[in-house]
Amino acid sequence: MESVLPHRAARFLGDARRVVIFTGAGISAESGVPTFRDDLTGLWARFDVQRLATPEAFHADPDLVWGWYEWRRRRVRRAEPNPGHLAIATIEARVPGSTVITQNVDDLHERAGTGAVIHLHGSLFAPRCVTVAAHPATFQDPQDGDAVELHEGRRIPPPRCASCAALVRPGVVWFGEALPEAALTAAVEAAATCDVLLTVGTSGVVYPAAEIPRIAARSGATVIQVNPEPTPLDQVCAINLRGTAAQVLPALVAAAWEATAER
Ligand code: OAD
Repeated sequence: MESVLPHRAARFLGDARRVVIFTGAGISAESGVPTFRDDLTGLWARFDVQRLATPEAFHADPDLVWGWYEWRRRRVRRAEPNPGHLAIATIEARVPGSTVITQNVDDLHERAGTGAVIHLHGSLFAPRCVTVAAHPATFQDPQDGDAVELHEGRRIPPPRCASCAALVRPGVVWFGEALPEAALTAAVEAAATCDVLLTVGTSGVVYPAAEIPRIAARSGATVIQVNPEPTPLDQVCAINLRGTAAQVLPALVAAAWEATAER
């Protein structure tokens, strides 16, 4: 295992022409956004997936589900990108052939300056009509001006679609649902053709997203992981950097372009 001094990883990154950065909840942890599977603080340690994150849950209790996603959306609004997100935006700027793929539904990569982000699991900021997916553009979010402090269990009736009056639902991928096809296709293509894939802050257990680093490894890319804990992805990674995203990524970026400048 490599230490937190990422010299070998920096060489691979600095030499790469096509880089994929694949992120999970851990990249946003140091911005104060909870992960899913951390023992005490993870969302799935504190909340019931079946009651909150399935199409059946929304059908059974739309106010509970909409209120929970409203609470999460507001938390993200108040969060700021951390040095890990900023380092990723720097990689994207340095390596023209780079692609950022995230499982996260927050917008912290975009706010850190990353241009085009592939969101495999949708977005908290793209609610859509529950019946006609083509209706989202007509929806105006009535909660945005609401200054009321939200708590995590507050029930809020979802708004109605301005086109057809059906309920509006969060624009995220729920358990049991397919990933957005165009996003998945673009992610697979990027993973299959990159030189280096950096996997950051994901437990690597939710499929098909967790296939992305595995596809890169099978296609001959060097896969580098940034995570303070071991994950099932350790096996496919050439280099495992044990540390947090906000610690490791800025050091990695600095070392990558120092390493290439020296040659
Ligand atoms: P998880 O909560 O499963 O995993 C978060 C990972 O981040 C763990 O491996 C942690 O060790 C690591 N981590 C924690 N803090 C970190 C830090 N500061 N820096 C770097 N890494 C850190 O989250 P995901 O892998 O993103 O899906 O979960 C995948 C999917 O499961 C999510 O997109 C979501 C969830 O159910 C949907 O909602 C569809």
